[in-house]
Amino acid sequence: MTEATLVAPGRIHEFTTKDGAGTVEVGRKLARLLQPPQLLLLEGDLGTGKTTLVKGIAEALHAAQADEVTSPTFTLLHEYGGSREGQPVKLYHMDVYRLESERQLETLGLDELLTPDALVLVEWGGKFKSIRKKATGEILIASEGGDLRKITVTLKG
Ligand SMILES: Nc1ncnc2c1ncn2[C@@H]1O[C@H](COP(=O)(O)OP(=O)(O)O)[C@@H](O)[C@H]1O
Ligand SMILES: [Mg+2]
Repeated sequence: MTEATLVAPGRIHEFTTKDGAGTVEVGRKLARLLQPPQLLLLEGDLGTGKTTLVKGIAEALHAAQADEVTSPTFTLLHEYGGSREGQPVKLYHMDVYRLESERQLETLGLDELLTPDALVLVEWGGKFKSIRKKATGEILIASEGGDLRKITVTLKG
């Protein structure tokens, strides 16, 4: 399955994983590539591993243990404090799947989150034009059958 990227072309990194642990490991590697501030769309069908990937990112930033990172589907926003290359990082994990309008989205105050030390990861962020406009990149996870996943990371600039 191929899907068009939602952000402008940029630096592209591709990974293939064959289980959840592999996707956590890719998350750990990504944490090194992601220099804050970033707002990334986290795209892919339900159950492809978006939340699983954030577990690896959170671990590598010393922000949370993998099992502490749970889906923000109902809470909408989870915040973790961590560090990267000796600098503090605020990791924000959002899931806007259940939000239906830009108005509902406004209550989350996304603009205020995007401080210089912020890494904002938004599951289903591509749904909203206002988020797409602010995005600095996109992580797309596509199922390739069974537990195989292709992870494509596009970073602007
Ligand atoms: N290659 C893989 N990468 C990520 N998750 C996988 C993979 N193979 C199987 N899984 C399983 O699929 C599920 C993904 O769940 P989750 O990360 O919550 O998905 P999403 O946030 O995209 O809805 C987990 O139960 C995970 O163990
Ligand atoms: Mg999820």
